[in-house]
Amino acid sequence: MLIRLIYASRSTGLLTPLEVKDIVRASQRNNAALGVTGALMLSNGIFLQCLEGDHLVVNGLYHRIVLDPRHREPAVLSLGEIDARLFGGWAMGLVSTTEAHRAIFLKYSAQAEFDPYQMRASALSQLFAEMVEHARTVPA
Ligand SMILES: Cc1cc2nc3c(=O)[nH]c(=O)nc-3n(C[C@H](O)[C@H](O)[C@H](O)COP(=O)(O)O)c2cc1C
Repeated sequence: MLIRLIYASRSTGLLTPLEVKDIVRASQRNNAALGVTGALMLSNGIFLQCLEGDHLVVNGLYHRIVLDPRHREPAVLSLGEIDARLFGGWAMGLVSTTEAHRAIFLKYSAQAEFDPYQMRASALSQLFAEMVEHARTVPA
């Protein structure tokens, strides 16, 4: 059964762009082998990640990811069965924090600062749908 899980977490320290790329690189490698697709954003010290794939595989992956000391306070914000993936072509796309993207984040937020913890599930799915065009791969 195909599902999409969206969660947020807070980065424990100030991660450099290189460290974020390392996370995405490992994700691309592992997720491709698991048949998992998705995207990762980091803004305002908050990670927002979308994971799509088989429900048991995504569930197992999520529980492994939350053990990573580079983030804390993980919260599943949206979880449900889907008919089709948003990120069919992405093992793990990275959405960088440019001004243009910030404007899209804020389009779906009530707050002036990016705070996905406060966003409703349907807004989060729409945000990721819009981000498909903006995600990019990190070279291996
Ligand atoms: C915010 C965040 C998101 C992550 N997402 C993934 C992911 O989608 N897939 C993955 O395999 N690892 C992900 N990781 C990294 C894992 O916690 C772990 O470091 C990695 O899977 C280890 O891979 P390796 O054993 O191949 O080195 C993420 C880490 C963080 C902090």
